[in-house]
Amino acid sequence: MTDVRQRTSPLEWEYAPAPEARDIVKFQERYGLFIGGELVEPRSKEWFPTISPATEEQLAEVALAGAEDVDAAVGAARNAFENGWSTLRPAERAKYLYRIARLLQERSRELAVAESLNGGKPIKESRDVDVPLAAAHFFYYAGWADKLEYAFPNRRPAPLGVAGQIIPWNFPLLMLAWKIAPALAAGNTVVLKPAETTPLTALIFADVCRQAELPAGVVNIITGDGSTGAHLVRHRGLDKIAFTGSTEVGKAIQRELAGTGTRLTLELGGKAANIVFDDCALDQAIEGIVNGIYFNQGHVCCAGSRLLVQEPIAELLIAKLKRRLETLRLGDPLDKNTDIGAINSRAQLERIRELVASGEEEGAEIYQPPCVLPEKGYWFAPTVFTNVAQSYRIAQEEIFGPVLSVLTFRTPDEAIEKANNTAYGLSAGVWTEKGSRILCMAQRLRAGVVWANTFNRFDPASPFGGYKESGFGREGGRHGLEPYLRFEE
Ligand code: NAI
Ligand code: MG
Repeated sequence: MTDVRQRTSPLEWEYAPAPEARDIVKFQERYGLFIGGELVEPRSKEWFPTISPATEEQLAEVALAGAEDVDAAVGAARNAFENGWSTLRPAERAKYLYRIARLLQERSRELAVAESLNGGKPIKESRDVDVPLAAAHFFYYAGWADKLEYAFPNRRPAPLGVAGQIIPWNFPLLMLAWKIAPALAAGNTVVLKPAETTPLTALIFADVCRQAELPAGVVNIITGDGSTGAHLVRHRGLDKIAFTGSTEVGKAIQRELAGTGTRLTLELGGKAANIVFDDCALDQAIEGIVNGIYFNQGHVCCAGSRLLVQEPIAELLIAKLKRRLETLRLGDPLDKNTDIGAINSRAQLERIRELVASGEEEGAEIYQPPCVLPEKGYWFAPTVFTNVAQSYRIAQEEIFGPVLSVLTFRTPDEAIEKANNTAYGLSAGVWTEKGSRILCMAQRLRAGVVWANTFNRFDPASPFGGYKESGFGREGGRHGLEPYLRFEE
């Protein structure tokens, strides 16, 4: 690894551009809705453009599904559920899932480039994280498809029926995989709605389903905005809704479904504490902190957005962190050396700006390394706030951008108290050389996932989900099958 201390100026070692070729992706000018195994014109007759947030260039037009389109998609899914998919031999279901997993691997470069173009994330992340993990989820759940009785012994698992799935824009293909793979493995059919700013990899996935010869209607993909999502939630022909997104919309969905008997899982926001003790391996912790909050521009529900540092090392850690920030490269998402890509949308950029301004107003001290932001597109420099009080908005609210708030603590008890002082409870990190301290902290942190001496690590075999306003239900692992099953006891 390069020792940053030997460098006098961060600009001394400029990297030559290393752009990934984009001609591997050929977007259609216009995409219809994927209903009953075909791309069809929307009955709503409405379309909207989808752009690259790095350049604001239009990539394609997609359909805006209305109530009638939602109804058609749910009908196609119901039909597929009743006439084949739910009674197919489980080992046959598994074969389709394996086939999808292999096709995702085969088309991985195309999917990675499409994901970076449409969402703004660095190609090294879409190539090395999003796409391989999406394939891994299909491989993993393919393995469970014919072993459900072993996953839940003596409980006679059966599929629920049709699931409506609404996903966000921060990990478009990966969230699709988290939703679709367990649902199909358990014998359900689905109607999935991607986020309005990132529909394109879901539409390529529709083509993957076609290539895999998945029976028509097992997967339906309807593009649209919040209104399309609301139509899906209101449709009474669904057995389950799975939602990932903002706490605000999650609450509205829960109110809408109360008393209907429709099953619900919610994966919502977070404000994770990344807790660094004075005995930790400091340079590793710096890398973990950077990965925790600047990965995917901080558009991560489990991002380590609150750094809690033990007082004796706070000064040294902040100095090292600032120096490390100077080495992060911000720019073209398709460049293989880019660390920080574009902010996903203008709306999200405005939200980040507003919260950062509130931090400055409330009295926190801001640091941003020298870095030139491209003129077109949506960008925000990596940011660190010190002198942050727990009551500040930047310590309480999810910013969902490359913005870190640093707080300090003296004792493990104080760290726990501060870490748990949030409405959320999705994830947390602990950095210490003491194994016993890790276990003690993990037990007392009110968070669904606790990472020790690492951060933002994902594995399809490991369940993920929240406490409190971060939602309920688990995705991943054996636990992730349960929300898609009923048990004939
Ligand atoms: P959002 O919750 O509005 O959007 C997420 C998904 O829900 C999208 O597919 C959207 O079309 C759909 N949706 C919106 N309104 C709906 C409704 N009434 N009924 C059904 N579906 C609906 O999130 P948004 O506005 O994009 O981001 C706002 C904030 O939410 C972010 O700044 C971030 O703090 C948080 N967020 C958290 C995510 C997570 O992974 N937990 C993901 C995205 C956003
Ligand atoms: Mg919204």
